[in-house]
Amino acid sequence: MPGIEEDLLRDLLLEEVIDLRSNPGYESITQRVKDVKLLRSKVRGTLTSDGLDLSTDWIPSRTLSVVEKVEGDELGSTALEDRGPSIGIGETSGGYSVKIPVSSLDGSLTLILGKKGSGKSHLAKLMVNGLADNGAYVLAFDINNEYIGLVRNKDGSPSRLARKIVLLEPGTTLKFDLRYMGKGVISSVFRNALGLPSVSLRELIRIWNYLEGYGHLSFSSLGDYITRWRTNEMIREALLSRYYTLASTGMIMDSDDGGFSFEDTVAELKEGGIMVVLLAGISPVARRIVVEAMLSKLLELLHSRSIPPMFILAEEAHMYIRETYWEDLVTRMRHYGAFTIFVTNQPDALEDLIYRQADNFFLFSYTNKKDIDLISRLSATDAETLEGVIPTLRRGSCLVIGKATNWLPVVVNVKDTEFESLGRTRLFFQGIRLKSNNQ
Ligand SMILES: Nc1ncnc2c1ncn2[C@@H]1O[C@H](COP(=O)(O)OP(=O)(O)OP(=O)(O)O)[C@@H](O)[C@H]1O
Ligand SMILES: [Mg+2]
Repeated sequence: MPGIEEDLLRDLLLEEVIDLRSNPGYESITQRVKDVKLLRSKVRGTLTSDGLDLSTDWIPSRTLSVVEKVEGDELGSTALEDRGPSIGIGETSGGYSVKIPVSSLDGSLTLILGKKGSGKSHLAKLMVNGLADNGAYVLAFDINNEYIGLVRNKDGSPSRLARKIVLLEPGTTLKFDLRYMGKGVISSVFRNALGLPSVSLRELIRIWNYLEGYGHLSFSSLGDYITRWRTNEMIREALLSRYYTLASTGMIMDSDDGGFSFEDTVAELKEGGIMVVLLAGISPVARRIVVEAMLSKLLELLHSRSIPPMFILAEEAHMYIRETYWEDLVTRMRHYGAFTIFVTNQPDALEDLIYRQADNFFLFSYTNKKDIDLISRLSATDAETLEGVIPTLRRGSCLVIGKATNWLPVVVNVKDTEFESLGRTRLFFQGIRLKSNNQ
């Protein structure tokens, strides 16, 4: 608006003009006019002596107001402090230390988005570490086996939280007892992870009920009876092929003790902890089996209130969580006490629903306009803020918005960790350079 611009310029130059009388210097005035910058800003709320009020319905005086920057400390002390136990994740560019209250993650859906190598996993590690430190339970699906680093410090000594971390490697430290998993979970595995059609599934349940009735239920007898069961040849084939796939993963066992149990693990980790499920190095079908078995058992136990609420950290979840679970995770499972943190570098891998339900966004750098457009369209934040800020973020800096910051957009330089953060991509040429350096 030309009127306002003129007004602003007049005010800006007034001081200079007065000086001019004693010290003529027209160049400086014209220079300032040429250099004038227009700073577009957005009204986010009102800071009063009572704190921050986000519902602003008035506009300050145009002539009498003074425009100045609110420093991180002042904003932080009124808008971000005193919200109970929290997790320190870094600082603002002004040096103000940013802490995320654990209450803002509790009961929430949190998204960590950013392009490759922007620092997402690094922040996710700080977050789960902080949650466990505060006594919460975390189930982390680790697609790159990089959360192993949480157990040791950079100098190799055991980390402070090492005893709170349980590493679960499918087939060795993670095996499921058939009877502990139960009919419901095993059926979900056959149906959802192994793609068993429903006609065959009904037959499987009949065999299960028969074996259970006779007290013969075991993984090996299940295999025997599928072979012997009087049924249509196609159904038998369908059942047998799935059974052998399941058997080949070595994840199902027959034993009353020794298999993985959420209840026992939670009892072991009295003051909270992280269960890291190592998914690298196993086949995609084995991955789907592990995730299906764990999530459906978890849901069953949360539903019957046999275990405390749990945070689920899922990196690149579209690679192993079946689509129908997403909706479940963000709606139904949330009411039972499963709170998800999704981490991904592909914003279009998440459904619109996930964005709409999200309570916290941690947005790292994206340079691709398509990705930025998608995020700003789907998240609750105003598009201008995201479009303006996201491309300017350096590696290790993110824009936080959501319950964690009272819905104020805050740019945080994420701090380094004491523990080994192990996210480095293995490079081909780096190895070669190192070799030649040694020579
Ligand atoms: N705030 C930080 N301070 C120090 N190092 C960092 C920080 N953020 C990231 N890094 C380092 O940068 C590298 C890449 O970070 P990270 O693994 O978190 O990226 P990412 O976004 O998860 O990437 P990808 O999409 O490939 O999984 C890692 O070696 C990590 O330790
Ligand atoms: Mg990562």
